[in-house]
Amino acid sequence: MNKSFNYLISPEISKLRHFSPKLRIAILASGDGSNFQELIDLSNSNKFDIDIRILITNNSNAGCLLRAKKSNIPYKIINNSNYKNKEDFEDEIMRIIIEYDTELIVMAGWMKIMSSNFVNSFRNKIINIHPSLLPSFKGNNAIKEAIANGSKITGCSVHFVEPEVDSGSLIMQAALSISNKENIESITNKIHLLEHKILPLSISQAGYLIRTSFKGND
Ligand code: GAR
Repeated sequence: MNKSFNYLISPEISKLRHFSPKLRIAILASGDGSNFQELIDLSNSNKFDIDIRILITNNSNAGCLLRAKKSNIPYKIINNSNYKNKEDFEDEIMRIIIEYDTELIVMAGWMKIMSSNFVNSFRNKIINIHPSLLPSFKGNNAIKEAIANGSKITGCSVHFVEPEVDSGSLIMQAALSISNKENIESITNKIHLLEHKILPLSISQAGYLIRTSFKGND
């Protein structure tokens, strides 16, 4: 695809912060994992000081799982159908996040809605990427709905996770125009390219906030 197209990213941050020791992150993903791959590549090339401690997926057929295996990243498959109820499913995810000693949880294509108990257990430590300019087009069909709605501009957002779905303070957004030549596939591809830019930068921002706000408190 043509990788050059007009877009706008705000805030205009373009550099990843340095973390020493590396920022310890957990990835929650349900799908192909192209965002996860971007983080693996940045970490492997020493361009970003992150330590991807664990991938948690709820889908044993997900592409993200193959990517973790290929890059020797620890992974766990936590499928809700193997648990008595949502609470047990989430308890297991919480246990793993704590076991792997992570500072930040990154939902990178995570398609399960988590309870307020889960979200409040990691307050201000969970971020999510969503393929729309929030608060427009929340939910799992954001790109399709933006096109169906006749939107002329769409994009992607990274935000801190709050109990209410696809809400919480925004960290970064990227916007692009939808011309009448576009279709779901072309917009999805463009949004992915923008997601791969803003997710690492947002992790960097969130990691900085997490590290600095706890300084001197313990
Ligand atoms: C991304 O576009 C992300 O914004 C979206 O899933 C895709 C995952 O892509 N997330 C949501 O829709 C969450 N509601 P990837 O698996 O290639 O990273």
